[in-house]
Amino acid sequence: MRLAQVLFSQGFGTRRECEGLVAAGFVAIDGRVCDDPFEEVSPEGLVLGVRGVRWPVHDQALIVMNKPAGHECSQKPRHHPSVYSLLPAPLRRREVQAVGRLDEDTTGLLLLTDDGALIHRWTSPKHHLPKVYEVRCKHPVDASQLARLRAGVTLVDDPVPVRAAAAEATGDCTLSLTLTEGKYHQVKRMLAAVGNRVEGLHRSRFGALVLPADLAPGQWRWLDGPASVDPR
Ligand code: URA
Repeated sequence: MRLAQVLFSQGFGTRRECEGLVAAGFVAIDGRVCDDPFEEVSPEGLVLGVRGVRWPVHDQALIVMNKPAGHECSQKPRHHPSVYSLLPAPLRRREVQAVGRLDEDTTGLLLLTDDGALIHRWTSPKHHLPKVYEVRCKHPVDASQLARLRAGVTLVDDPVPVRAAAAEATGDCTLSLTLTEGKYHQVKRMLAAVGNRVEGLHRSRFGALVLPADLAPGQWRWLDGPASVDPR
């Protein structure tokens, strides 16, 4: 594949812009500046340097972000900055999308990809991919609330009961909740249904993927592939 074509596939601009980037000497492979846009390269495992920034070539983009509070998972945010504003231009140009949304005040593990089939699979309730939330509540969490969350609760405006795959207290007012669906405001509505109130919400796991401890709020990183989330 031609070098400029690889850059184009990664979201670095129009074909013409990518050719210009290479010709201007902004692109390197293994530390060697390549200024021929038509140089043939193998994209498999290729790591580019673009304007000094390391860019591992990925056919499909799949990244994990530690979502900070105060950001909306929307391309057209209404009240707060968008999580997409935290991404570099090439990923935005590739139109990566969040795999399900987190509320503006929710923090933690957010997956983003440009693979529509993955988004569909991982947001489908039929796929039963577990999502783990660390919840801080206004009132103490008691055994009866945990039992009701596990047995299933009915949400306002939704006749079909929803149940937590797991619900365990982690402190007087905190719990860890595992859900396999992703209904609108599901954690907040489930806690409200058992007479409590969510005051802090953090997603710590999605499928097999645990939020990396060294990923600071607002940071993101590439994932090796879908198997790190869903090994089935
Ligand atoms: N449930 C909620 O209520 N909010 C989220 O952001 C995620 C799950």
